[in-house]
Amino acid sequence: MPDDTMSASLQRDFPMRGVPQPSRDAVLSLPDVHISQHPVIAHKVSMLRDRHTNPPDFYRLVRELGTLLAYEATVDLRTVPASIETPLEPMVGQKLAGGVGIVPILRAGLGLAEGFRQVLPDAQIWHLGLRRDERTLEPIEYYNQLARAVNLQVCFSVDPMLATGGSAIDALNTLKRYGVPHLRYTGLIAAPYGLLKLREAHPDVPIYLAALDERLDERGYICPGLGDAGDRQFGTL
Ligand code: PRP
Ligand code: URA
Repeated sequence: MPDDTMSASLQRDFPMRGVPQPSRDAVLSLPDVHISQHPVIAHKVSMLRDRHTNPPDFYRLVRELGTLLAYEATVDLRTVPASIETPLEPMVGQKLAGGVGIVPILRAGLGLAEGFRQVLPDAQIWHLGLRRDERTLEPIEYYNQLARAVNLQVCFSVDPMLATGGSAIDALNTLKRYGVPHLRYTGLIAAPYGLLKLREAHPDVPIYLAALDERLDERGYICPGLGDAGDRQFGTL
């Protein structure tokens, strides 16, 4: 095979080969990036990473992590006074000021979104289907069920893996195009490369993560990572 054909084919099979990547330390102090320090989250992420964790357990763990991450990513939401009556007497309690949106990025975002819903049962759920082209690593949109956002206090884009950042950036571009306000990105594991790209592309969007890993491999997988989050949730290995 001629040299240039060979190198074109290698580039297709290993799209991250030779691409410079920032170190973990270089991205740790990026603004408005929240990496969980919670021991229960660390424990469950380690179980997820384990290659012996089977799809039903994997899905359950993703859901549980969604619930824990939702708790961390909502710590500063605003409330307004609300009059209620307890069985004993009236009082002024609190309710969330404005609605919440959750946007699972299909497929892998489904389990996480389910966990978010445990905490935020009244949230509106809008599905966005993105698939990463394995050769170019570019995201391809194949499904969109977004609606007009009315009186939202916050909208969470929910996807477990932030690898090159392409899918996250594309999803947020789409949400902004639809006029969705007050966006937050929530994910489980990020590579430094994708985190930096996302921070640069959307500096106004707070980022909540369960863990920050070391690097991308030549095929664009997060290392040490957990493999393919969609395949492991839905048993399509
Ligand atoms: C995974 C993941 C993200 C994307 C991350 O989805 O859930 O959406 O890859 O990669 P990126 O940061 O390089 O864009 P995938 O395309 O594998 O689809 P799936 O959820 O259907 O498995
Ligand atoms: N998508 C995944 O599911 N895992 C990775 O490591 C990268 C992208």
